[in-house]
Amino acid sequence: MTPVPMVGRAAELGELVRRWSHVRSGAVTPAAVVSITGDAGVGKSRLVTSVLAALAPEPAAVLYGVARVHTPAPYDWLAAVLSGRDTHDLPVPADGLAWLAQDPHAPSERYAPGALLRLAVRTVRALVGAGPAVLVVEDLHALDPASLNLVGELAAAPDLPALILVTSRPPDAADSPELVARTLARLSGAPGAVRQHLGPLGPADVAEIVRQVHGAVPEHLAGAVCERTGGNPYWLVELLAATAGRGPQALLDEPLPGHLRPGAAPAERDCFEQSAELTAREREVLSCLAAGMSNKQMARTLDISIRTVGVHVSNLLRKTGTASRTEAALWAVRRG
Ligand SMILES: Nc1ncnc2c1ncn2[C@@H]1O[C@H](COP(=O)(O)OP(=O)(O)OP(=O)(O)O)[C@@H](O)[C@H]1O
Ligand SMILES: [Mg+2]
Repeated sequence: MTPVPMVGRAAELGELVRRWSHVRSGAVTPAAVVSITGDAGVGKSRLVTSVLAALAPEPAAVLYGVARVHTPAPYDWLAAVLSGRDTHDLPVPADGLAWLAQDPHAPSERYAPGALLRLAVRTVRALVGAGPAVLVVEDLHALDPASLNLVGELAAAPDLPALILVTSRPPDAADSPELVARTLARLSGAPGAVRQHLGPLGPADVAEIVRQVHGAVPEHLAGAVCERTGGNPYWLVELLAATAGRGPQALLDEPLPGHLRPGAAPAERDCFEQSAELTAREREVLSCLAAGMSNKQMARTLDISIRTVGVHVSNLLRKTGTASRTEAALWAVRRG
């Protein structure tokens, strides 16, 4: 199924574009920080993709990173950003850079944590250059403590001509809820920071998405679909995919996965693993994950882009109801 065009979220999109124009005009000297929070599948990444497409003129640099390796390792966000980049010109000592990039051949002497943090900030500054840049920190809730600290530092760093877009599921979905909650609070405390909490889509937006696929449908049908999916765009997209090629009535007749059934206990909601149906590609990605591959290795093995790997991993975590790559790998092992 081709992706449905983005529906709703106009206010959020408008605000993000406005923040960007402030950054471009040089009106904000520390970075402009926007934290986009919300439940799994509510549309955080989609909003980020839409805003990146809407920025004109394009940012001088986009630093995009998600939690990347099998077991979240220090500076995972920055390692993801550095992956595949030519780093020769960066004004950072090569051994420090090797640490930050999680190079397996990094020298064995470690840097003191404070020194490594300063190098990490310097690296980001060099990549941003004169800017204006966009820093995308996807899935903050799944990042390692060093990355969380780095994002907090960057949010407060003076003279960083950048828009920092952070997405996160609620802290209670994180491996370290307190640390994530503290980081989100730290980000909200940055001057001029904005927090966008995405709730489910409303009935009109759900109806619009259903219409994109099925043409005009009766209002009561769209309303019932909204209720069935709780207005969660991910579940809506899944339901539309599961019923593709059938008439709109199938949207009501198709049995819902266990976790979505009315009265499902919250734990059951997180446990889609009972009924997780992975696509062939997601299964491939999952077995690479279970083999301990990094996103870069997976991209090479499967011959797809690193960004696409990131999307598959994120979908996997959602479908398997797991909160981290480690948990997903364990899930894969448990289920053979
Ligand atoms: N406003 C929208 N209009 C149309 N489709 C949407 C919208 N928001 C999200 N979607 C679709 O719903 C699915 C889930 O969205 P997305 O991946 O952005 O969720 P998320 O909040 O980032 O989830 P996660 O917490 O798992 O990362 C995607 O297929 C996306 O294209
Ligand atoms: Mg996402």
